[in-house]
Amino acid sequence: MFFSCIFSIAAIIVITTISSGCGLFQKMLTSMNMHPELVERGEEFPGSHKCGDCHIDIYREWAGSTHSKSYISEKFRVATNNYEFEFCIRCHVPETVFLSLENETVDNTEISLTQPENSEIAPRDYNLKDGVDCQGCHLTADCEFSGPHAGISPHPLKQNEEFYRRSELCGTCHVDTFEEYLTYVDNGNDETCQDCHMPAVKRKLIQDEPWQKLHVKKEGKAHTFSSLSAIEKNKDFIELKFTEINTDNNQIAGNVEITNTKVNHSIPTGKYGYREVLLWINLKDNLGRIIKSKQESMFVELNNQIKPREKKIYNFVFDLDNKSGDHNELEAILLRTNFNRTDKTLFAKIELYLDSSPIGSKNARAKPSTP
Ligand code: HEC
Ligand code: HEC
Ligand code: HEC
Ligand code: HEC
Ligand code: HEC
Repeated sequence: MFFSCIFSIAAIIVITTISSGCGLFQKMLTSMNMHPELVERGEEFPGSHKCGDCHIDIYREWAGSTHSKSYISEKFRVATNNYEFEFCIRCHVPETVFLSLENETVDNTEISLTQPENSEIAPRDYNLKDGVDCQGCHLTADCEFSGPHAGISPHPLKQNEEFYRRSELCGTCHVDTFEEYLTYVDNGNDETCQDCHMPAVKRKLIQDEPWQKLHVKKEGKAHTFSSLSAIEKNKDFIELKFTEINTDNNQIAGNVEITNTKVNHSIPTGKYGYREVLLWINLKDNLGRIIKSKQESMFVELNNQIKPREKKIYNFVFDLDNKSGDHNELEAILLRTNFNRTDKTLFAKIELYLDSSPIGSKNARAKPSTP
């Protein structure tokens, strides 16, 4: 590996020497070799912030994503017993997705990305703080950057559109989520991880002056890697419904149906960390105070996630006693939360008015949604 990098750099120097000081075309060629350190591996690599000199927008997005914090995150430090467990490092601090542990000399075309167990990525041992860095997804075994477009750049560049548009790239590390995704994709769904987790943007790929003036806008993707943008893009990815509501003077009973209408993996998904999805069913009084409540939790570990297009039915029975007072409204909320329940991300919410007793299911009506 090391030698092939040295070789590439030597080649770059040769080309630079040959082509220097000539016409426009040669100037362009020369410009391709202006920054040999960018494709350097090991201590020589200046770090992802260097990519941010030119790719300003993309760098900012990545820096705000959890990928840039996958090593320095306190949760990771604690979970690895202060970085003691080396086998945890490879996905959190990858050399590059084009390099596997088993066979260090394979190039991108030879790696079978549909069988992650055969192509575990090698960890890197420098510049740890950058976590899943720019090189990690863009540097090929041939010491070039590759991406979805062709372009003229101050570093070696090779177009590989197919690879970058496919979920397999993400699946090298998101192994379990990718497996869930594959079983569903067999049913003919074609949205990729990128479609949902990297919002589409048309823009120039670099923003540094004056060079950006030479470049045109391209169809690209924001490097946010967040579930918030995925939720934003798929607003109604969860369908919540009250069904079979039955009421008498002593009881209100019924079902809440939850359907994963859009997401191509389970909800919640992920192998590591604490991910709880919580269903809250509340009965409220005339003043909007919760008088009865039921909760159900979904965890990957309990295997009770909502799989793609799956409909789950949760029933509830609220006994009404004298203290229950006037009951007026049913409410169901689905949210994602953390261990301390301090972070809450709303997935969906529905409300149902109940007419005053005696009430039957025909008297229950959906509350008009509030603006
Ligand atoms: C080299 C391994 C690797 C690759 C490739 C990778 N990821 Fe990740 N990803 C991680 C790690 C590690 C984390 C956890 C970071 C943390 O929370 O500390 C993560 C976190 C995430 C999260 C956020 C999860 C959360 O808890 O907020 C999303 C969303 C995500 N990745 C999407 C993607 C997408 C989309 C792709 C493909 C374009 C991708 N990832 C490719 C390793 C990778
Ligand atoms: C001195 C400026 C500069 C720096 C620094 C720089 N790049 Fe680039 N990069 C460019 C230009 C210019 C292009 C081509 C833009 C175009 O064609 O629109 C480019 C293109 C790319 C592409 C191709 C994207 C595609 O469209 O397929 C990738 C990937 C890339 N750079 C990665 C990196 C990484 C990773 C780093 C840091 C290690 C980096 N670049 C540092 C200027 C730079
Ligand atoms: C159709 C859109 C869609 C596709 C395709 C999709 N996701 Fe998601 N993803 C979402 C939504 C919406 C959420 C938020 C719900 C949740 O947390 O389960 C999410 C959540 C996640 C999370 C958990 C984030 C967190 O903060 O806990 C990870 C990790 C993730 N996706 C990775 C992936 C990967 C990897 C792929 C491709 C194999 C992928 N997603 C494909 C929409 C999508
Ligand atoms: C987790 C993997 C991952 C990481 C980390 C990552 N990229 Fe990308 N990058 C991608 C994918 C996937 C695409 C292709 C998106 C698409 O379909 O257009 C892409 C596209 C690009 C492009 C082409 C423009 C575009 O939006 O398509 C550039 C330039 C680029 N990345 C630079 C960077 C730089 C600079 C960094 C670090 C700050 C970085 N990338 C980090 C996965 C990654
Ligand atoms: C195969 C790649 C891979 C390996 C190996 C790996 N991780 Fe991760 N890790 C991920 C991905 C991808 C995520 C984000 C989504 C998820 O949970 O699947 C993540 C997320 C995490 C998180 C959650 C961070 C947060 O902010 O919520 C912790 C903690 C974590 N990993 C610890 C570990 C530990 C400890 C090990 C070793 C036992 C380990 N990881 C090994 C890929 C990996």
